[in-house]
Amino acid sequence: MDEKTTILFVTSNLGKLSEAKIALKQFGLNVEAFQFNEEIQEIQSSDLHFVAADKLTKAVSIVKASSDKLGVMVEDAGFFLEEYSGFPGVYSAYVHKTLGNQGILRTLNGVEKRGAIFRCVIGIYFNGREIFFEGSCKGQVSKKAKGKNGFGYDPIFIPDGGDGRTFAEMTSEEKQIFSHRGKALKKLRDYFEERNQSPTSNHGSES
Ligand code: IMP
Repeated sequence: MDEKTTILFVTSNLGKLSEAKIALKQFGLNVEAFQFNEEIQEIQSSDLHFVAADKLTKAVSIVKASSDKLGVMVEDAGFFLEEYSGFPGVYSAYVHKTLGNQGILRTLNGVEKRGAIFRCVIGIYFNGREIFFEGSCKGQVSKKAKGKNGFGYDPIFIPDGGDGRTFAEMTSEEKQIFSHRGKALKKLRDYFEERNQSPTSNHGSES
């Protein structure tokens, strides 16, 4: 893997950026945020994959117009509550912005069914191709918000298989062992490792 390979992650979310940097650094990939003036307009769809694919197409056209770096990455994630048949899902950003974690906890006050799943789809563009990697993480919504690390719903989410701490009580490295993003990034690493190529090399086996 070329130490200098850079992936431009089209995101304004510093938490996502930092997690991707940590996960891909050990693999010799440098992740940088690609900043541009306007947010990419997300399409309305109940399918994360569809949203990520649309975002990637838009991101690639913007990045190509302003940079000669070829590795482009986007991500779309959602928080799916069992009690509400998966809601907020693709509306997670809006619900988090309006209700916040305390509001979510209030709606689940007295509710025993506290299961939740994080899902994410990472889309990456290289060598003129778009490839997608999915990750999910099952867990429970905590009774109280706990921890200061991470972002978004991290203080109210306890992953299955952990020691009862929320994501926000874990280090970024610990979170990635369980998290939707950690799993999708691992699939991305495995994909390129299997092909022994970097996302920006020109000798890929895909056509
Ligand atoms: P989006 O992919 O940025 O649209 O994410 C949707 C919502 O889920 C936002 O409110 C994010 O903050 C939240 N979210 C995405 N990934 C995570 C995570 O790993 N932990 C906590 N919240 C997350």
